Amino acid sequence: MTLPAELSVAGPRPLRGRLRVPGDKGIAHRALLFAALAEGRSRVGGVPDGDDVERTRLALEQLGVRCRAAGGPVSVHGLGGVLREPEGVIDCGNSGTTMRMLAGLVAAHPFLTVLTGDESLVTRPMARIAEPLRAMGAHVDGREGATRAPLAIHGGGLGGARHELEAASGQVKTALVLAGLQADGTTEIVEPRRSRDHTERMLTALGAPLEIVDERTLRVRRGALPPFELEVPGDPSAAAFFAVAASVTPGSSIVLEDVSINPTRIEFVKVLLRMGGHVEVRQTGERLGEPVGEIAVEAAPLSGTTITPDEGSIDEVPALAVAAAFAEGVTEITDAAELRVKESDRIGTLEQELSLLGVEVEARPDGLTIWGGRPRAAELKSHGDHRVAMAAAVAAVACDGESTVRGWRAVASSYPSFADDLTSLTDGTNA
Ligand code: S3P
Repeated sequence: MTLPAELSVAGPRPLRGRLRVPGDKGIAHRALLFAALAEGRSRVGGVPDGDDVERTRLALEQLGVRCRAAGGPVSVHGLGGVLREPEGVIDCGNSGTTMRMLAGLVAAHPFLTVLTGDESLVTRPMARIAEPLRAMGAHVDGREGATRAPLAIHGGGLGGARHELEAASGQVKTALVLAGLQADGTTEIVEPRRSRDHTERMLTALGAPLEIVDERTLRVRRGALPPFELEVPGDPSAAAFFAVAASVTPGSSIVLEDVSINPTRIEFVKVLLRMGGHVEVRQTGERLGEPVGEIAVEAAPLSGTTITPDEGSIDEVPALAVAAAFAEGVTEITDAAELRVKESDRIGTLEQELSLLGVEVEARPDGLTIWGGRPRAAELKSHGDHRVAMAAAVAAVACDGESTVRGWRAVASSYPSFADDLTSLTDGTNA
């Protein structure tokens, strides 16, 4: 799909109708990686067509795992964990999830893997993955003392270890589980609080040797995985943008269908409810341990709140910051220093974009204070960050007048068809 460099949005346009957002990025990365470890052919449908998951698929091909996508489900021919040394460097593009999880997969293999990424990814912190993998016996080198990519990993002969993570992280946990499934002995992972739990749900459903000791502690032993079939449910982080757009644009009423309603991913619903939003979540089924359902949203006057994204809404902060911009009163985003090292420095980039919308905002090292009001149409930018681009488009749809979002191509990471899906809700196609 060729994306325009700039998106123009004329608002306000109420959103009406039903939408199925693309498959969940986090579940799709995991499904491809687990299928690569399994012995036999797995089929993963509903894989989102963004660049991030495509990087994981291409990386697995480089590692000798046939992983074919011909427009339909991805067919993965897992070799029971047998991988081959990649001939070239693996380019993870903009995808931190690809780099961190792959590091765990390849750490068990006695060959050299070099992982790099785009100009954003090579600035992001990697010690959180290098250190625990070293503790299991892998050799991990990289720029600035292996704190930044490119990372060079020479693995093999891993032994289990007990990891006490400084920060909860679904990516680091999953990388260590991937390493632990291929290591001797027991690998124990203790987090300061529970992070997103797709890995635990999928692996438990697949019968992997994984023990959930308590909310924060996991144990994993060497073990084989069976091949499987999965239709990846819609991405709640993508759904959050439409939930905010519908909440803040008077006259809106939408239903987001077939989306993962995993409790560790829909904290944004709780935040919107706290702000006075009209949001309802209904479960319709379950797939590989993952609850699936629909999210219905109607426009409602919002008021300010306090958001501690540590509770599970870190990826939704750009969308929630837009909700705060349209809310009455003050919203505080606290304890969120991790936002500084996402695809962009989201504290800085959101401060800039909200200011351009005429919203009063103050950035702190670990958060933002947003004084809600009446944002006005503006010339906005993505800063190369897909979620900042989508947040800007959501603000634009609710503002009176014509806005533009420069750097629109950033949405290619996770949601290339975002603008088409937004239009389908605002022009009544899906009503
Ligand atoms: C992810 C975990 C989160 C999230 C990222 C995807 C995952 O990052 O922000 O977009 O799929 O496990 P951390 O692992 O750094 O918390």
